[in-house]
Amino acid sequence: MLTIAVSKGRIYKEALPLLAQAGIEPTCDPDTSRKLILPTCRDDVRLLIIRATDVPTYVEYGAADVGIAGKDVLVEHGAGSLYEPLDLGIARCRMMTAGKVGETWDARRIRVATKYVNTAKRYFADRGIQAEVIKLYGSMELAPLVGLAECIVDLVDTGNTLRANGLEPRDLIMDISSRLVVNKAAMKMKHAPLKQLIRDLEAAVNPEVAT
Ligand code: ATP
Ligand code: PRP
Repeated sequence: MLTIAVSKGRIYKEALPLLAQAGIEPTCDPDTSRKLILPTCRDDVRLLIIRATDVPTYVEYGAADVGIAGKDVLVEHGAGSLYEPLDLGIARCRMMTAGKVGETWDARRIRVATKYVNTAKRYFADRGIQAEVIKLYGSMELAPLVGLAECIVDLVDTGNTLRANGLEPRDLIMDISSRLVVNKAAMKMKHAPLKQLIRDLEAAVNPEVAT
């Protein structure tokens, strides 16, 4: 049995066509079913529906053999303990700093609100900026508006969320897309089916280079 961990919503929706091309189609819909383990058209493959931030944990502990997670989540988790064999090219966006339109901040000392605490601390430390990083779990855009922080670190795609809240993007921290991650022990124990899955997904992502 191969167990694949994936989060509901954006990543699930964008991963579905790739999984289908690899011959994996869930037999029920996570939006209408309350099931957290989804059977698929293949008896030997099942999907776990979990929170995006939990994907590296399930894969690291071997509760899932494989996972699909955003680079943002992997970097924040510190996913060095996982193999990351494939960029799936889905759920693309950018991780950026942002602040109130037209407002400059003190480049030496700054208060930053984000759910990416580890990534933000590393980013500012690498630039010699003393940052007080405040952990939030969502709606980061609110923080500068109510004086909780001068700066946020968040994901930006169209920029609509920032604009709607009187904020502007500043510096690019990293480009984000979703990656396939694999448990290291599973890669040894289930080598053949995992190798095949990686090959099939690679062909779905890059049809022109598929052999
Ligand atoms: P959780 O359920 O754990 O709170 P979440 O709300 O961040 O997670 P999603 O919004 O579905 O879950 O985001 C999942 C992933 O999709 C993110 O980790 C990121 O890699 C990517 N992502 C998030 N926002 C965007 C966006 N606006 N455009 C493109 N990709 C995005
Ligand atoms: C993400 C992210 C930003 C927004 C950026 O939120 O946290 O708020 O997308 O996208 P934009 O630049 O196109 O506006 P999402 O829509 O996933 O909502 P949530 O994470 O708060 O559930």
